[in-house]
Amino acid sequence: MAKLLEGKVAIVTGAGGGIGREHALYFAKEGAKVVVNDLGGDRHGGGKGGELADKTVADIKAAGGEAVANYDSVSTREGADGILWSALSKFGKVDVLVNNAGILRDRTIVNMSDQDLNLVLDVHLKGTFFCMQAVARQLKVQGKGGRIVNTSSLSGLIGNFGQGNYAAAKGGIYSLTRVAALEFAKMGVTVNAIAPVALTRMTEDLPMMKGVKADDLGPQHISPVAAFLASDLAAEITGQIVGVQGSKVFLYRMEETPGVSKDKGAWTPAEIKERWAEITR
Ligand code: NAI
Repeated sequence: MAKLLEGKVAIVTGAGGGIGREHALYFAKEGAKVVVNDLGGDRHGGGKGGELADKTVADIKAAGGEAVANYDSVSTREGADGILWSALSKFGKVDVLVNNAGILRDRTIVNMSDQDLNLVLDVHLKGTFFCMQAVARQLKVQGKGGRIVNTSSLSGLIGNFGQGNYAAAKGGIYSLTRVAALEFAKMGVTVNAIAPVALTRMTEDLPMMKGVKADDLGPQHISPVAAFLASDLAAEITGQIVGVQGSKVFLYRMEETPGVSKDKGAWTPAEIKERWAEITR
């Protein structure tokens, strides 16, 4: 039986650890040739190195799969071009992009430095944009469609205390996913996002992860969903944000209430106050 991603070339960013590493191993097991991108820094965006990406590549090869390492940062256009180039020079094409790389620099808004804001926006939001743009341009030239899977977050979709920078970036990735799904439809390229919760180095010291077992909330629950969205099984699915928390898989949707309308003229603030319960119902 053919494997789910047989013949596909997939780029996974941030694939040296956590969820991205799991994606890369899973995609390779399902027959994809994988570009394992990772800058190799710490979880706050400091430092860099090739060990993380090299280890994922070595583990894929040891299991009989095909992979190449790339150490560029997703956060610059040059980095994104370099990642795409790794796919083209080693495997001759690209079919799938999984934007997964990420860092955290949690601060409340009043305490946030410009560096905390800029680094997080650069890696998550601009990184997703640059990689998506570079790969979409290539997919357009190839003319055979493709799959893009972005990574948003509960924090950006619902909000989370102390994560103004990260939530703004992840909310932006939600919006980018919606726009890209519309723009790339005519190229046969689907664009979806996952919003995971998993025990990784990024989350291991959060209060919500205290006592959580890797079996229940490990990255192994996330990658099958990413592989589904990256595969031909999901050819008709685009613009969706899929939540994955352990064995629970669900959709996030932006909500518009039915609201209220007025026969004539603009509402006054006092009228809005009076009808607030109906507006928000
Ligand atoms: P992680 O810290 O284990 O892995 C992130 C990887 O991205 C690291 O290997 C890191 O070296 C790499 N990376 C960081 N900056 C990079 C850059 N500029 N260029 C290339 N690679 C870079 O974190 P985890 O938990 O695996 O997160 C993966 C994605 O899932 C992130 O986008 C994160 O925001 C998102 N996410 C994770 C959640 C969780 O519960 N673990 C919750 C919601 C979202």
